[in-house]
Amino acid sequence: MSSQVNRPLARGQAPGKIILFGEHAVVYGRPAIAAPVQQVHARAEVWPAAACVVEAVDLARRVVAADAPADDPFAHIVRLTCEALKRPLPPWRIRVTSEIPIAAGLGSGAAISAAIVRAMLAGFGAELDNAAISALVYEVEKIHHGAPSGIDNTVVVYEQPVWYVRGQAPRPFAVARPVHFVIADTGVASPTRVAVGDVNRAWKQDKSRYEALFDAAGAIADQARVAIERGDIRALGPLMDENQRVLAEMGVSSPELDDLIRAARAAGALGAKLSGGGRGGNMIALVEEENADRVHRALIAAGAIRVISTTVPPTDVV
Ligand code: PMV
Repeated sequence: MSSQVNRPLARGQAPGKIILFGEHAVVYGRPAIAAPVQQVHARAEVWPAAACVVEAVDLARRVVAADAPADDPFAHIVRLTCEALKRPLPPWRIRVTSEIPIAAGLGSGAAISAAIVRAMLAGFGAELDNAAISALVYEVEKIHHGAPSGIDNTVVVYEQPVWYVRGQAPRPFAVARPVHFVIADTGVASPTRVAVGDVNRAWKQDKSRYEALFDAAGAIADQARVAIERGDIRALGPLMDENQRVLAEMGVSSPELDDLIRAARAAGALGAKLSGGGRGGNMIALVEEENADRVHRALIAAGAIRVISTTVPPTDVV
């Protein structure tokens, strides 16, 4: 047998992501900052097959692209990619794996969709620019999130820190010095759609209060961008704490998140907050490099089921 049989026709991957500042408020037009997490990835492989099938290994799911309902995220991204490239469904088995925990605020849904698009592009020998890939992934985010802001698809496709305002192209910004984070998972699965829906209901009931909270989060994101551009890492800690207070007032923190945030601060983190949809999922702690291990251990001791250390590297974008 030829060795080709044991190798996929093509591969694609995309990283996880954290939201540094501005989740939820970003849905209502305020700015937010997010960064890729290269320590965890979603991956897709294209194998020859009789029909077009997506095999989601971690979910033990097998989806036949031609038969699946319109709201199946795997079939949807495959069909959208074929439409964008004006190709018929290919005879491929698209095998998907992911190290990014699901429903945990690390962008697993967007990363899986982006990995599938990239693998299919490689399989077809075709190209789409990042804006076009991000737009395809956004369509699937609507299934996951209801009314997504577009920040998740943007950051996992562009794979760089983004300053994001809904409906606008992502704006590059400079990261003057490395920014170190420890990310800890509460182990509580929390679908973003639910948290986003609850915030929306609360906003409808008390618009002036929620608009003020969104304004506060937006102002914090503005100040955080300036601090990151200047390399003033110490100024970021209090901004994260302040953003967490605002998120808690929005009703999206949880006792498990609060425990981990408290433990990280007690272990010397410069600041800490939930990241993503909240109610569970992950929190992030800003740390000095030399203190990362201590905070990592404290988070495990406080009950985190998984802890990742990551660094947002400096960029030369001005
Ligand atoms: O997918 P998550 O849980 O990382 O959350 C995305 C961030 C939100 O602001 C809560 C929703 C959105 O669409 O921006």
